[in-house]
Amino acid sequence: MCGIIGYIGKKNASKIIIESLQRLEYRGYDSAGLATLDGKDLYLCREVGDLQNLINTIQEFPVKGSLGIGHTRWATHGEPSKINAHPHTGRRDQVAIVHNGIIENYEQLKEKLIGKGHKFKSETDSEVIAHLIEQYLDNGAQILEQAVLCALMDIKGTYAIAAVSKKEPNKIVAARCGSPLILGVGDNETFIASDTSAIIPYTRKIVFLEDFQVAVIDDQGFKISNINGSSVNYNITEIDWDVTAAQKKGYAHFMLKEIHEQPQMVKKILNEKLDFKNLDLKIDELIKIKSQILAAHQLIIQACGTSYHAAMIGEIIFEYFTNLHTDVEISSEFRYKHFIAEQGSLVISITQSGETADTLVALKKAKQRGLNTFSLCNVVGSSIARESDSVFYIHAGPEIGVASTKAFTAQLFSLYLISIFLGALKKNIKPELKNSLIKDLTYIPSLMSRVFDVENYIARCADKYHEFRDFYFLGRGINYASALEGSLKLKEVSYIHSSAYPAGELKHGPIALVTENMVTVCIVPKSVTYDKMMSNIQEIKARKGKVIAIATEGDEQIKKYADDVIYIPEVQEIFSPLLVAIPLQLLAYYIALKRGCNVDKPRNLSKGIAVD
Ligand code: M6R
Repeated sequence: MCGIIGYIGKKNASKIIIESLQRLEYRGYDSAGLATLDGKDLYLCREVGDLQNLINTIQEFPVKGSLGIGHTRWATHGEPSKINAHPHTGRRDQVAIVHNGIIENYEQLKEKLIGKGHKFKSETDSEVIAHLIEQYLDNGAQILEQAVLCALMDIKGTYAIAAVSKKEPNKIVAARCGSPLILGVGDNETFIASDTSAIIPYTRKIVFLEDFQVAVIDDQGFKISNINGSSVNYNITEIDWDVTAAQKKGYAHFMLKEIHEQPQMVKKILNEKLDFKNLDLKIDELIKIKSQILAAHQLIIQACGTSYHAAMIGEIIFEYFTNLHTDVEISSEFRYKHFIAEQGSLVISITQSGETADTLVALKKAKQRGLNTFSLCNVVGSSIARESDSVFYIHAGPEIGVASTKAFTAQLFSLYLISIFLGALKKNIKPELKNSLIKDLTYIPSLMSRVFDVENYIARCADKYHEFRDFYFLGRGINYASALEGSLKLKEVSYIHSSAYPAGELKHGPIALVTENMVTVCIVPKSVTYDKMMSNIQEIKARKGKVIAIATEGDEQIKKYADDVIYIPEVQEIFSPLLVAIPLQLLAYYIALKRGCNVDKPRNLSKGIAVD
């Protein structure tokens, strides 16, 4: 998955492009590049690896022009290398393009073009787009727009592209199909980008392009049409994100900053959705689909990665608060599955980016089956948000760290609000219980803040355990999903092998690996399964395994068995994942730091996987 940017205005395009690429870097960091046009001169600069390499080259060899395109790459076809870096040019270097997506029929197209004398410079699927556009221009297409439209007719797959041509040095043509693309409307300047955060310092006026739409941008403004040439009505949305939200604000890493933002973020969600005086929830997003909800007898929650772990917790709390049969599905499996769903079932998609390809395709499949759809998204105007019957924005703010942290707890907190609201709507929970649950939720921000009291202790645990090569994470009930999330966080940022199990499964196989070389993180807050967890810990200790316990403040007994105890404040078991998440995130962060890993940009990863 990649990030793309385009700029037309009065300023130095390379400066704007590089600044924007810095905000898009989380989408991929295998290579970066840009192309600018100054009159008929096309400047192309590409570097492998970190964006800083491109910045260094541009500093040494500045490029001219107030129009340009840029790209940050997450490699799919072809290894990370300078030659595979975007922008790509056609055979005569007349046209340059940047692309995010996958061209599925690129091999057939490439073969045909080679037959016509084209020579390819890279191993990417994307380069074929530049050659096709140039071929159409050579074969009589009068303008770049026409050549791009013809090229898009030949292409199968997903794309967000931006193209420039030496022939029309004041124009960018951009289009999307299955990959995100937005247009930013500034004062005497226009931008295109993969997402809003890239251009938020320059403009808050955004047009969210739809699939099969093409934007032609020049120094006079822009026009948007459908790929078949018909005109399009579009809206300009005013975005209210705080510009500084996408900055590190003194923290060493975005991941650490985002972990620390969680108490304030949850407070903000409460302020948005709760009438404090009457302890009443205001969830218009559910009211909008009230009749469908009241008719539904089944919920299906689908998501990927960290969002899937939130979905697993969602399954438990929806069944608990609404008494509705709830299934949870991994989107990449769900989209291919023969599933049974009663007519009128509600499919809930959970996604930070709103662009995850598997989640989007599964959502479309559910719609084709005539099911009702609701989504929890962070990114405003994203594809999944727009595809759903109704969307609940989780208001986590921009999440830049590739490892998801605050989006996870924002998803969880939103799921608690939604399920309590739904439970009350369905008359499954009485008003007194609803009020007391909401009251408990109002304490969560301050309880979350208190977890940071043990941050230094967690950093010391990281010192002690960072050289171990194998970790287990165990939890029971609602905290089995927490264990999965803790294990994923550790893998992602520290590259340590880890797995998670429901603690009761330990004796059915995984215990075979427990030795003095295995660290097991046991999630053992006060709960109905506390005693069972204690037995599991003793089974591990009997085999000399190391145990880090996450336990409730005041639990002295656990100290007898665990090697280290990370305490969290006392909270009802049902809400405990909200607090448990933080020490797990901090542990992964500090272990990764000790191991010298690039926490914000873990190897091989990218944020929001918008490819299959
Ligand atoms: O944007 P989404 O929530 O749909 O993304 C889903 C996963 O790709 C994402 O949660 C991924 O697992 C993160 N790297 C987790 O830290």
